[in-house]
Amino acid sequence: MVRKALAAATTVLLGLTGLVVLATPAAADPLRIHAAARGVYIGDAVDNNEITDTTYRPLIGQEYNALTPGNAMKWDTTEPTRGQFNYARGDEIVNLAKANNQIVRGHTLVWHNQTPSWVQNLSAADTLTALQNHISNVVTHYRGQLYAWDVVNEPLNEDGTLRNSFWFQKLGSSYIAEAFRAARAADPNVKLYINDYNTDGMGAKSDGMFSLVQSLLAQGVPIDGVGFQAHLATQFGFPNQMQQNLQRFAALGLDVAITELDVRMQLPADATKLATQATYYRDVVNACLAVARCVGITTWGYTDKYSWVPSTFPGEGAALLVDENFQVKPAYTAVHDALAAGTTPDTTPPTTPGTPTAANVTATGATLSWTASTDSGGSGLSGYNIYREQGTTDPLLGQSTSNSTTLTGLTPSTQYQVFVRARDGSGNLSTPSATVTFTTSEGPAVGPCRVAYTATSWGGGGGFTAGVTITNTGTTTVTSWTLAFTFPSGQRVSQGWNANWSQAQGSANVTATNMSYNGTLAPNASTQAGFNGTFTGTNTAPSAFTLNGMNCAVA
Ligand code: XIL
Repeated sequence: MVRKALAAATTVLLGLTGLVVLATPAAADPLRIHAAARGVYIGDAVDNNEITDTTYRPLIGQEYNALTPGNAMKWDTTEPTRGQFNYARGDEIVNLAKANNQIVRGHTLVWHNQTPSWVQNLSAADTLTALQNHISNVVTHYRGQLYAWDVVNEPLNEDGTLRNSFWFQKLGSSYIAEAFRAARAADPNVKLYINDYNTDGMGAKSDGMFSLVQSLLAQGVPIDGVGFQAHLATQFGFPNQMQQNLQRFAALGLDVAITELDVRMQLPADATKLATQATYYRDVVNACLAVARCVGITTWGYTDKYSWVPSTFPGEGAALLVDENFQVKPAYTAVHDALAAGTTPDTTPPTTPGTPTAANVTATGATLSWTASTDSGGSGLSGYNIYREQGTTDPLLGQSTSNSTTLTGLTPSTQYQVFVRARDGSGNLSTPSATVTFTTSEGPAVGPCRVAYTATSWGGGGGFTAGVTITNTGTTTVTSWTLAFTFPSGQRVSQGWNANWSQAQGSANVTATNMSYNGTLAPNASTQAGFNGTFTGTNTAPSAFTLNGMNCAVA
């Protein structure tokens, strides 16, 4: 109804101005509002290269209230070399989700694809150790930040038997239970899923999944949900009895979710195929909505511009809700209308929060509290976003579910102007509160040292060379030194010179101690050391250094 009202308003506008209005989705009536009103989430799968697309980026936040990283949390990205973990790409997507008030499904911990060869070449005993260590590290890193994890992905053959993957060959069926146990040990709250494709309807493969899940439950394995990928194709028909299939898993006491929905077709697309595609999308949404334990639907991308389909299934494509130019397809309207059917979306934001007051202001933290907002739109108050006012951009400092928060990680001796906005269950944000202004106190005294750090990335990316120049700015001679700093974006030291460099596995903290020949630094003397390292994504320089435990000026 809202959509019809908007369409009518657009027609009036067109009549008045004669302007051509692009058929992009109406911001006031996005999918996420309707999904929230129906008690489900609507998710998008995104990759790091896509979220820098200035047309796409705002649509991700506008339309969706959940995200899945398409690749950023897979093993080949998170642990390409044994014991060296890279979270920069996954963190980037989690941070986008936070800014957009979206939940995140982690994808995926154990899979036979996109797993480095070092894992595939281990002995059986070492395979189990590597699996447990990987899950422990990755799940711990994201603890408290994700809604769910796809713990085991695609374990089944088409006939419903267990896939003869390297996991199965080394560990037998036990790898599945081991993976879930390791994930639960690392995060007691995140929902743990098993996930597969061609299990969407009743059939041999979904029967196999049903037996597998029953046996996991019988063994007391900590599993919370079953993911149905729903990579569909118009030429193969709609899955058989999808709603009944979801329902039988839900009846085991588990959540179910549509995790990777897309509906491809043989190219070229035409009006008939696009209309068929729209009915598939509609019927998947309706199957989920009809099952109380179906928690949400994730489309495997939003725009055909970034779909995985054309490069994976030659001659097929056009699988998503909007085309390469972000123009709405019948599929978008079908999903929208299925979610919107019979509901009044909550478009009323909560009331404006009171002006925050700041207490316990330290060099790096402060406690803020404010008078709570109320929400009358139907979806209920869900929390507050806390922003710093800073010229044209207002970065998000944190989120809170109550009307107070403790800020950490602030910069010493710095003035902060902070305001809060309340948000409701549909993602509506209130108007901003008035700002509170406070200034953090001075940080610890700067010691008699100065450090200059430079890093140069190598041509193809991934590798870099860094140099540090350490200067004694004090009045007494230093006879030995230990330099310490923390990498901000997952970098690793590989090999260094002019110091003994050390970085523990899984840690971002680096120390360098002097060699026999460069430990003595007279007042004003400098020495240089360096290392080669690796990075993924960004290669942000460390922001702070200590020498013999004292903070140094950074040149
Ligand atoms: C796909 C990604 O979208 C592609 O970018 C990548 O090249 C291959 O993997 N089932 C899954 C997803 O569980 O992880 C896959 O994602 C699609 C099929």
